Amino acid sequence: MSASPGNIYLRAGAAEDQATIRRMILDEGLNPTYINWVNFLVAEEVTEAPAGGRRIVGIGQIKPYKDGGRELASIAVLPAYRSRGVAALIIQTLLAQERGPVYLMCGNTMPAYYRRFGFVEVDAAALPYTMRRLFCASRAAMRIMALLGVHHTLYAMRHAMHHGSP
Ligand SMILES: CC(C)(COP(=O)(O)OP(=O)(O)OC[C@H]1O[C@@H](n2cnc3c(N)ncnc32)[C@H](O)[C@@H]1OP(=O)(O)O)[C@@H](O)C(=O)NCCC(=O)NCCS
Repeated sequence: MSASPGNIYLRAGAAEDQATIRRMILDEGLNPTYINWVNFLVAEEVTEAPAGGRRIVGIGQIKPYKDGGRELASIAVLPAYRSRGVAALIIQTLLAQERGPVYLMCGNTMPAYYRRFGFVEVDAAALPYTMRRLFCASRAAMRIMALLGVHHTLYAMRHAMHHGSP
């Protein structure tokens, strides 16, 4: 376990976390496919006795694709626990375990946040094969939504700092 703000600790996901992870993803409207606790880190609030207990307040994963692509995904923090650096701790810890490029896809307002961690925006062509197909399919769906007056933009980003490189 590693400590973070308050009584919040990071740990690897466990099988019994699967339902909570899935619920948090659905609650936030994030991509509900490929949700496997094995790939997750969870941030857990640990409260002292007598009311002692544990509650998952944040989640995040690196999704491994069969083509070797690795995606930072499913980052979510319960509303009452936001703006305390919980997501930042999850993201930094996940990235510290990686040895190669990590990609992500995010909506309208998020690129500025991810830039803080070393991500830079890239074209679809820079994405690994499977992510590129998902990204292009999502963008096509968004173009259709735009015709209906609903405007969303999807960005692709790549983690620019690799271990062992300057
Ligand atoms: C995005 C999210 C994970 C951030 O969690 P967090 O623990 O509050 O993040 P941190 O404490 O590390 O950083 C907070 C900062 O994130 C940035 N941020 C949060 N949500 C943002 C958004 N929708 N757009 C742009 N920046 C955002 C802000 O700069 C914020 O700083 P502020 O509190 O001073 O405004 C959380 O808001 C969340 O769960 N949102 C819903 C799910 C989601 O959108 N996930 C990301 C999918 S790409």
